Amino acid sequence: MAIISAAGLARTFTTKRGPVEAVRGIDLTVREGEILGFLGPNGAGKTTTLRMLTTLLAPTGGAATVAGHDLATDPAGVRAACGYVAQSGGVDTQITVREELVTQGRLYRLTKARAVERADELAGDLGLTELLDRKCGTLSGGQRRRLDIAMALTHRPKVLFLDEPTTGLDPGARADLWDLVRRLRDEHGTTVFLTTHYLDEADALSDRLVVVDGGAVVAEGTAAALKLEFGGAPDASLQDTFLAVTGRSAAPADATPVAV
Ligand SMILES: Nc1ncnc2c1ncn2[C@@H]1O[C@H](COP(=O)(O)OP(=O)(O)OP(=O)(O)O)[C@@H](O)[C@H]1O
Ligand SMILES: [Mg+2]
Repeated sequence: MAIISAAGLARTFTTKRGPVEAVRGIDLTVREGEILGFLGPNGAGKTTTLRMLTTLLAPTGGAATVAGHDLATDPAGVRAACGYVAQSGGVDTQITVREELVTQGRLYRLTKARAVERADELAGDLGLTELLDRKCGTLSGGQRRRLDIAMALTHRPKVLFLDEPTTGLDPGARADLWDLVRRLRDEHGTTVFLTTHYLDEADALSDRLVVVDGGAVVAEGTAAALKLEFGGAPDASLQDTFLAVTGRSAAPADATPVAV
């Protein structure tokens, strides 16, 4: 069953220097309980797509539903079904980890007692228990990332959007995050929509990949299928496959462009 479906989803930004077509009409379907790797070079339109699917940014074209809720007609329903971890987290630096988690629970209308309890549960799940009384401003990058994710999980969302969740994490913290993402899928049936520039991560974690470039989908399928189709062999590296898909192939720099 499709938990996310988008048709012609588009966003053009108006700037002083003219329109920027960040997303040019994305069609995609995500199945319930899958981990989708959403890949693409810098500026491909990944974050813009995530912001639209989580109702933070209005589309200028197309439509989408998330967990059965239409972006245009039921944004509150979409928000209730989603957790979102932005590309660079934005937690308040002066308050403690516990306060941040409790505040998030209260935003989601938990009672005070339940919000305190939920803060403890989330801290346990994300390895933050020892840090509950620390000021957020003193956390390391990886600890802060875990706090961002804990906050996004407060209301047990059906769909979790993670925008480059492991950027800047050490290998151990990255492995912990992979475990967490898999646990969310396997134990809670959570659908995870994840962007990453680490292709080993996309390969290891994703059930399916969607590659975008220039604001449009340029390839989709399992890593194995994409490797076969674009990399030339089922055991091609995802790196070579990605470069072939996005046209930044290992062709010599002085290769003559194809005449059009
Ligand atoms: N508010 C905005 N105003 C103007 N242009 C924007 C705005 N937000 C994004 N863009 C442009 O839209 C394009 C897509 O940006 P987006 O952040 O979605 O890319 P991305 O795929 O997430 O890239 P990265 O891998 O670097 O995070 C870029 O060219 C970006 O400069
Ligand atoms: Mg981005």
